[in-house]
Amino acid sequence: MKISSEYAVQMKNITKNFGDCRALDDVSIEIKKGTIHAVLGENGAGKTTLMNILYGLYQADEGEVYINGKRINMKNPNIAIENKIGMVHQHFMLVENFTVSQNIILGKEVVSCCGILDMKKAKEEIDKIVEKYGLKVDKDAKIADISVGMQQRVEILKTLYRGADILILDEPTAVLTPQEIKDLIEIMHRLIADGKTIIIITHKLKEIKASSDACTIIRRGKYIDTVDVKNITQTELADKMVGRNVKLVVEKTPAKPGKVIFEVEDLTVTSKVHKGINALKGLSLKIRKGEILGVAGVDGNGQKELVEAITCLSKVSSGVIKINGNKIQNTKPKNVIKNKISTIHEDRQKRGLVLDFSVAENVILERYKEYPYSKAGILNYGEINKFAKEIISEYDVRPEDCVNMQIRELSGGNQQKVIIGREIANDPDLLIAVQPTRGLDVGAIEYVHKILVEQRDKGKAVLLISLELDEILSLADRIAVIYDGKIVGEFLQEEVNENTVGLLMAGGKI
Ligand SMILES: Nc1ncnc2c1ncn2[C@@H]1O[C@H](COP(=O)(O)OP(=O)(O)OP(=O)(O)O)[C@@H](O)[C@H]1O
Ligand SMILES: [Mg+2]
Repeated sequence: MKISSEYAVQMKNITKNFGDCRALDDVSIEIKKGTIHAVLGENGAGKTTLMNILYGLYQADEGEVYINGKRINMKNPNIAIENKIGMVHQHFMLVENFTVSQNIILGKEVVSCCGILDMKKAKEEIDKIVEKYGLKVDKDAKIADISVGMQQRVEILKTLYRGADILILDEPTAVLTPQEIKDLIEIMHRLIADGKTIIIITHKLKEIKASSDACTIIRRGKYIDTVDVKNITQTELADKMVGRNVKLVVEKTPAKPGKVIFEVEDLTVTSKVHKGINALKGLSLKIRKGEILGVAGVDGNGQKELVEAITCLSKVSSGVIKINGNKIQNTKPKNVIKNKISTIHEDRQKRGLVLDFSVAENVILERYKEYPYSKAGILNYGEINKFAKEIISEYDVRPEDCVNMQIRELSGGNQQKVIIGREIANDPDLLIAVQPTRGLDVGAIEYVHKILVEQRDKGKAVLLISLELDEILSLADRIAVIYDGKIVGEFLQEEVNENTVGLLMAGGKI
């Protein structure tokens, strides 16, 4: 590696260990100024760790970091910020009950001569950045009330407000809708046109093709290759990353649906965000044994409320939810599990896991009171660990020996695999999968899709709710479009295309 100011970033021979786990093994990467550079790798490959080292959050055990050709000892994020590096993390770091402006200026407040916060001046500065890059936001809205896509803009604005020239975006599109993704790619191009440099971590090959100039691939902590994005296909990228042939399309035979086992009738639920408004306005749907029903829709059209109502995390105002003939609405989550409904929730950290618990403890969250996991109120860790090991090996959770690791130490994708394994181990009649492949690498996505189809073929009913239209179109046997709290169209997979569903998702008529 020749050190040169042509590169915004050069990381040379980086090695990082966490205890016995070697997260990065002699990885080098160089990023040309004014380009968009993707970092690709499987879940747990070390992408976030590498970027956290660049941002000074972690220190490398070995290796060097150069910014604009100058060696920098990246001891902490303050030094990264001084060197005009900004990072938008995989899991956002905003203060939910502060406003957009307050979040942006937090830690870099403009004060007038007598030490008073000069909000007016700060807002003017924010406006300038908003204008320049087309990053429209509602400055006075509370973070808790704005969409995830908007929250992300706030994160980007935060880095620009601090003067960042090099932006690190860790999986920025994992939580965005297709339209928001397009907007983000446009914003990225505007930033580049202005001379900024962007490093983007993403699992979505389509987006790498649409946005990036170069792509560095790492696999299990080791550098594999850096490629010119123009000259490589999505399939070639996937194969390089996983080290084997990956199928990018879902393989399945036609469904053989049986009797209806799950029904939602005329469901009404009031909105928690917008008081006095109904988030679900008479929603009905049915699912048969042996079929995957996909609910397609733009975020915020009632998907979250539907899942919360089914899982009894919130009350319904009217309507019925029935599984195997039993009404479950307005009962308790425990009753939902008893009625053989398993859920892979959208927000794995909020709803799916206890981050401070070990992997083993997390796999028995729903069954810790059952024999053999506990006896006379005492947990039997021998049995718990055995069960956890089965899930770890069956679902290829990495690292292999993570049974007693705190689950927060696993990479995002591996956390998801633990949840999926746990929920399927419950042997449900209805499996609800909300964004089940969010943040997963293509190899893992292929695997999760295979598992959902397998569950279907075992005669289970699967309710798939996803913001990724591609996923719905390729995986679901039947597709229902949700818009403004209602199902506005239902189709068999073979009789519908992206345009029709897209139109209905946007509130159009066919
Ligand atoms: N704080 C930590 N303590 C212990 N191990 C860690 C810690 N952070 C990361 N690791 C381990 O380092 C490895 C790399 O993790 P990292 O988060 O960098 O992966 P990633 O490539 O970003 O994956 P993903 O796509 O799932 O986000 C994993 O095996 C992970 O378990
Ligand atoms: Mg990561």
